[in-house]
Amino acid sequence: MGKETLTVTDNRTGKIYELPIEHGTIRATDLRQIKAETDDFGLMSYDPAYMNTAECKSTITYIDGDKGILEYRGYPIEQLAEHSNYLEVAYLLIYGDLPNQERLAWWRNRISRHTFIHNNLVELIQAFRYDAHPMGILISCVSAMSTLFPDAKNVDDPAVREKQIWRIIGQVPTIAAYAYRNRIGRPFNQPDNSLSYTANLLYMMDYMNQRDYEVNPVLAKALDVLFILHADHEQNCSTATMRGVGSSRVDPYSALSAATAALYGPLHGGANEAVLRMLQQIGNVKNVPDFIDRVKKGEGRLMGFGHRVYKNYDPRAKIIRKVAYEVFEATDSNPLLEIAVELERIALQDEYFIARKLYPNVDFYSGLIYQALGFPMEYFPFLFAIPRAAGWLTQWLEMLDDPEQKIMRPRQVYLGASQRDYVPLEQR
Ligand code: CMC
Repeated sequence: MGKETLTVTDNRTGKIYELPIEHGTIRATDLRQIKAETDDFGLMSYDPAYMNTAECKSTITYIDGDKGILEYRGYPIEQLAEHSNYLEVAYLLIYGDLPNQERLAWWRNRISRHTFIHNNLVELIQAFRYDAHPMGILISCVSAMSTLFPDAKNVDDPAVREKQIWRIIGQVPTIAAYAYRNRIGRPFNQPDNSLSYTANLLYMMDYMNQRDYEVNPVLAKALDVLFILHADHEQNCSTATMRGVGSSRVDPYSALSAATAALYGPLHGGANEAVLRMLQQIGNVKNVPDFIDRVKKGEGRLMGFGHRVYKNYDPRAKIIRKVAYEVFEATDSNPLLEIAVELERIALQDEYFIARKLYPNVDFYSGLIYQALGFPMEYFPFLFAIPRAAGWLTQWLEMLDDPEQKIMRPRQVYLGASQRDYVPLEQR
């Protein structure tokens, strides 16, 4: 085994540098000693979109994109999806280990004590137009929570941090349900804390005073599995936003609101909604080959396919595909499923997709399930945001406790005009 260092020769000066390698990385700041002139700033690395830059050390989520492996705190996602439930997984992420029975009961109790929302939030939700996108409502409500809980500013106090975590995980489903009920002009249902996390969400959205009302356990379980799969995914766009905004030591509501905005985009959490729109636009299985041809010509993307990290089948997509069939047995079958299956079949044997290692990602089948559960399309990204809150908060805690982290402040390569004098308006 050779030395864990990298030797670099600067051909501008002929000087040789030896940089330590730790965990398969070199420190970008070690490059700063490499200078052509003594008053040089020093060498920087240029990495648009962080394609090859580790921003932090983390012990939360492990992904091997080539092999299609995803683990939370070391537990394979397949085992968690089969044996665990969302609240237990949220605990695992935040506290680092699976809870024993007593801790799990305590944790459930903490979350269920924080499911009711402040009346100001109800009024805020009611102030939106009837067709407001639910993600706009969520971003605003989470941001408004920072004004309702000003104690959250004290991010250095572990007890204060913990309390905001209970509040966020407890209240975000209630915001989702109220936003939905407001949109369809129905009265709000207060949370029922005797129900599971996902059954309570379905109840708040659905209940209309029916006698013998019961949430369908198959559907609540399916949503719970989807929540487990979406709980964290290491340094994606919204998580990097949570860490970046949180690094200014702002309260967690403001940081989480920014992370939610990042998730809203169609290339991130908005993709599940985009998949459904795409399937509707294709309309019929016989139109699939034509659609694939257009994608290959660059006239659009096959939404729900491709991933920055996974160059293999996204392990979450495999689980979701199975859940989709279970849900369709309990509900009416969705004709769009046939189109999705055909798209996948053709794409997986097409040279364009094979060469670029494009496989179905988590969003390819999730929208079909959400639709079967009765959620309108605009709510799909919301259903990604609810469970991801646990991941964002875990990453935020890790960032705050990491002595190497500081306020996030990337560098740039300036290529603009060199200094010039201001020209008065009449002389231009
Ligand atoms: N359909 C068709 N071609 C694609 C697709 C796609 N979905 N994704 C990537 N490509 C092509 C792309 O055109 C490029 O081809 P070429 O080399 O000829 O220019 C090549 O594959 C590499 O693409 P890229 O844009 O450089 O890859 P990226 O790592 O920057 O993008 C991605 C990752 C997820 C943004 C992208 O694959 C995409 O836009 N997918 C569709 C949107 C989607 O499903 N997003 C959900 C991601 S998973 C959930 C989440 O994390 O939010």
